[in-house]
Amino acid sequence: MNKIPRIAVFASGNGSNAQRLAEYFAKDGMPKIAAIYCNKPDAFVLERAKHLEIPSVLFGRDTFYNTQFILADLKTREVDWIILAGFLWLIPDYILNAFPQRIINIHPALLPLYGGKGMYGARVHESVIAAGDKQSGITIHYVNEHYDEGDIIFQATCKVQPDDTPDMLAAKIHELEYEHFPLVLRRLLVIGK
Ligand code: GAR
Repeated sequence: MNKIPRIAVFASGNGSNAQRLAEYFAKDGMPKIAAIYCNKPDAFVLERAKHLEIPSVLFGRDTFYNTQFILADLKTREVDWIILAGFLWLIPDYILNAFPQRIINIHPALLPLYGGKGMYGARVHESVIAAGDKQSGITIHYVNEHYDEGDIIFQATCKVQPDDTPDMLAAKIHELEYEHFPLVLRRLLVIGK
């Protein structure tokens, strides 16, 4: 049998996607979440990690950008893939180089629309609504040195109604994320396509 892929989930905030991935993958342990990495001491994802009994690693900006501590920790945990689930910092070159085409992000819009620095969470949905777009969606993509610009793996769409608020759109987007993110990752990481 092939080796079970081991993943690191990076998250900065609420962590509902991280939890969804953990619960979905727990059914058969494939892939295995080795740890959840977080850059915010008060992020709710840390509580979720505790309840899910997944180790968590909290780090600050200096550690992330000016040391190789996180890379060493990823190696110690034998991580094969890095999954960004609501992680808001740019991935530094030393990690990108160690995980070529093995870092995957989920973005709450149809890239290349509404991506780039500062485009996350509510800001994305406010921009979609302000532009009067009739649809939005999710993009799962490889991560490179620029925000939201790596090769696209998967997209799914939803309708934007004229009276949708950013919160209503966020809820639709989250539903799409919960539906597709675990399946796309399972297919790519475990089955290999
Ligand atoms: C998700 O909607 C994710 O797509 C988005 O942050 C949210 C995190 O929610 N990511 C970005 O905006 C990245 N640019 P969660 O913490 O509840 O999983």
